[in-house]
Amino acid sequence: MDTTKKNSNSGKYSYDSTQVSSDMAAFWTLTESAEFREIMMMYRCAIREVQTKFEVLDDELSHRRNRKPIEYIISRIKRPESIVEKLQRKGYPLTIESIVQNLNDVAGIRIVCSFIDDIYDIAKMLVKQDDVSLIEVKDYIRNPKPNGYRSHHMIIEIPIFLSDRKQPMRVEVQLRTIAMDFWSSLEHQLKYKKDVPHAQDIVSELKECADVIAKTDAKMQEIKNRIYLDEMRIEDIWSSQEETS
Ligand code: GTP
Ligand code: MG
Repeated sequence: MDTTKKNSNSGKYSYDSTQVSSDMAAFWTLTESAEFREIMMMYRCAIREVQTKFEVLDDELSHRRNRKPIEYIISRIKRPESIVEKLQRKGYPLTIESIVQNLNDVAGIRIVCSFIDDIYDIAKMLVKQDDVSLIEVKDYIRNPKPNGYRSHHMIIEIPIFLSDRKQPMRVEVQLRTIAMDFWSSLEHQLKYKKDVPHAQDIVSELKECADVIAKTDAKMQEIKNRIYLDEMRIEDIWSSQEETS
């Protein structure tokens, strides 16, 4: 909802008041409706479902391996302003149906692990569950972004059970290591902070840091493997279960 425009005389930003009032009207019509509050409630329920799934996997793997794979979990619901801004920016209608069809990141959950192998094990375990559908994967760990960003992203769909129906809901899942999370937080701040001096230098220094972090993550994984020599990966667990059943 960018209603600012550059005033050619002063070089400062001024507001187009007609545009502001029509944007505000569209914003309030959508976000103050009972249907909007209902869909937000459903996204919050979807996050709770997914969070519980990850907590169960964390508990089970901790029990099997004597080591917690997940360090922490953070979740968030996209703010109404950001929902409207994204719909408008992408040219989608401002309706509840449009939110559900076009936005995959209204509900977001971030899983932070110590080791890269744990990220892939947990991701595989989640999508193998029969009520989880995998809609999209973006593996920025194997294919980092040019700025150095690394994380494993999945869009999943899970059902939530309401009083009278089962509703499929989409959730964006981001899995990353502690080091990747540290890097992303700082890089994110750079993106949103205006007029940072020497921003271009910072971009290239951040890229260097991302490369160091990638090497460190790989080294930490290798050291962990030497400490936990007989630890089972998820495929080992599955194949051992097939043998015994
Ligand atoms: P959005 O429209 O921004 O949601 O991105 P997308 O639909 O193309 O999806 P993508 O999987 O690339 O990114 C989703 C989310 O990952 C973003 O909203 C950020 O939270 C995070 N992300 C992606 N790229 C970067 C990046 O370069 N830096 C940081 N800090 N975070 C990123
Ligand atoms: Mg997003």
